[in-house]
Amino acid sequence: MEESVSSTENNWIKRDEEGIFRIAVDGPAGAGKSTIARMVAHRLGFIYVDTGAMYRAVALFCIQKGICTEDKEAVEQAVGEAHITICHKNGMQQVLLNGQDVSGEIRTEEVGNAASAVSAYPAVRAHLLNLQRNLAKEHSVIMDGRDIGTCVLPDAEAKVFLTASSHVRAIRRYKELKEKGIMCNLEEIEQDIIERDRRDMNREASPLVQAADAVLLDSSEMDINQVISSIIQVAVSRGLPIDPSVWR
Ligand code: DC
Repeated sequence: MEESVSSTENNWIKRDEEGIFRIAVDGPAGAGKSTIARMVAHRLGFIYVDTGAMYRAVALFCIQKGICTEDKEAVEQAVGEAHITICHKNGMQQVLLNGQDVSGEIRTEEVGNAASAVSAYPAVRAHLLNLQRNLAKEHSVIMDGRDIGTCVLPDAEAKVFLTASSHVRAIRRYKELKEKGIMCNLEEIEQDIIERDRRDMNREASPLVQAADAVLLDSSEMDINQVISSIIQVAVSRGLPIDPSVWR
């Protein structure tokens, strides 16, 4: 397993071992985790780590190789050949799959659904765990996913469980796709979201669950700025030494 971490920017908060601050953001698909975590990272000078992108890269690998993502044994056998590297350019995470930048390609619905399937397999999760933990060793991070607070970074200084109703999440996704000119159906999107939640919450390996020490944020009735402020407030309440004017 050749996994490496690199960065092309050095303006993030880089602290000594004791000074590193980790914010774990977990929650279901479409709760706005990535948009919000990226913005919080920018405000705080942290690295943003999108762990879903890594599962998507494994899913893309399987699709490219013609491996059925429902075939646990075949996926678990092949995952060792998917060398995933994360780097950052202008603060944006890039995902390399066997040396190829796949950051754009992994964003389709097909890859998202396949990622939900492959992420249920323990060997896939084990394959990505070190990569995720290594990213949080040297830099202060805000990392989003499904099991960050419970499994990847159980000692994270601050944990947030970000959710929203399935209907609100479907409407957000519908608007996003429409803006990109992609034909879509709101009911189908909501069904897809419900199915993904069911799979992510009911799998045996690291299911999506709120960590006991995570703060629950329901963004159904909140705008982006309110959610960002709430996350920064959670971090400050858990000891992030920061001038409050940053998040006012
Ligand atoms: O957040 P996302 O939609 O990009 O994630 C794609 C899939 O990856 C999601 O359905 C569940 C899985 N995932 C996971 O199991 N654990 C994580 N830490 C992140 C994502």
